[in-house]
Amino acid sequence: MNNTTLLNLAGTWGTPLYVYEGDKIEEKVNELRAAFAGVPMKIKYACKANTNISVLSLMRTLGVEVDVVSPQEMHLALKAGFAPEQITFTSSGVGFEEIEECLSHGVLINVDNLSAMEKFGQKYGSSRPLFLRIRPNVEGGGNLKISTGHGNSKFGIPVEQKEEILKLVNRYNLNIVGLHQHTGSDIKDGETFIRAAEVMFSLAMSFGNLRYLDFGGGFKVAYREGDAVTDMKDLGDKLSARFQDFCKAYGRELELWFEPGKFLVSESGFLLAQVNVVKNNPNGTLLGLNTGLNHLIRPMMYDAYHDVINISKAGLPARKKYNVVGYMCETDDIAKDRELPETEEGDILAIRNAGAYGFTMASQYNSRFRPAEVLVYRGEEYLIRRRETLDDILKNQVLITF
Ligand code: LLP
Repeated sequence: MNNTTLLNLAGTWGTPLYVYEGDKIEEKVNELRAAFAGVPMKIKYACKANTNISVLSLMRTLGVEVDVVSPQEMHLALKAGFAPEQITFTSSGVGFEEIEECLSHGVLINVDNLSAMEKFGQKYGSSRPLFLRIRPNVEGGGNLKISTGHGNSKFGIPVEQKEEILKLVNRYNLNIVGLHQHTGSDIKDGETFIRAAEVMFSLAMSFGNLRYLDFGGGFKVAYREGDAVTDMKDLGDKLSARFQDFCKAYGRELELWFEPGKFLVSESGFLLAQVNVVKNNPNGTLLGLNTGLNHLIRPMMYDAYHDVINISKAGLPARKKYNVVGYMCETDDIAKDRELPETEEGDILAIRNAGAYGFTMASQYNSRFRPAEVLVYRGEEYLIRRRETLDDILKNQVLITF
């Protein structure tokens, strides 16, 4: 999205503001489809990345289905118009009542532990299809906090427990229709996907009734120019070939599923904020914004790099290095040592790659409002979340006067 459009949006809707470019989401959907055009592939958007119901609605229009991790996400997906059979609940250590709730809406259930398999078997036997999340013991992901497939991870049923899994399947005659794995987020090396897939292929041979293999999400996107990303074309060629070999050996054509979050929405998003203060400290110049870790926690939580541009000074040469910080009463770094044009108070900065895990991880910390959200698609702009007000902060609070 160009800087003038962003600046106009900031003018219309105020800051801080999340902006999403629907056309970019569509482009990413098409890129993934093109890479796997040779196999029956379905995209199950990992909606934890961005659950705005209008983003979900756009995904649905684009023919994407959805992966949810809580009953609440399921309700948002239903609200956005997804049919229950387009929704998978990938549960991770949840109470069994959440599985029951999602099942009561007709959603496909994915369980990640033997105890849940046992409870599912006792209650439903073979009457409902079931997915199993497997821990393949493959290390993947940009940092340990977002790695999920390794041998010390809490996620999935360890593949070495194959005998226990099969015992439960036989005891309850479970109808296992799919196997699932997700090794982590920010995986740039396509080989990681292939290694995890090989684990799934060999385990899959022990199940007679599979329809789907879900290889999770985690594709790495570029956070700065020149960043290494997952080579989708190369992964598409290699994994599709291996998948076809597997289907032949298995004796049935399965569907290949992915559940990307970042890949679909990260680059579509911008967090727009205003420079409240330019602070010339002896050890460097700080730009203090009207946003912070309450709206975008990724820099503080993962040391994540987010590109920052001064859209009020677009086209002017970078003159100076700045540290960009938030307005929270807490250390709140957004970006360090960034070369920007000479920046003044009142300028609008755009923080890039804010479409995934931005708003969904935002909070009301410091009793501040969460931002409004705008979606731009095919030349139209839509307000898809109003800015919060004091009523939102007071909602559910109970005042006792003593
Ligand atoms: N499937 C499962 C089961 C997952 O747990 C996740 C993400 C995904 C798919 C999508 O992963 P993605 O394609 O977005 O990398 N808040 C962190 C990322 C946490 C990811 C958690 N699981 C961040 O901002 O980097």
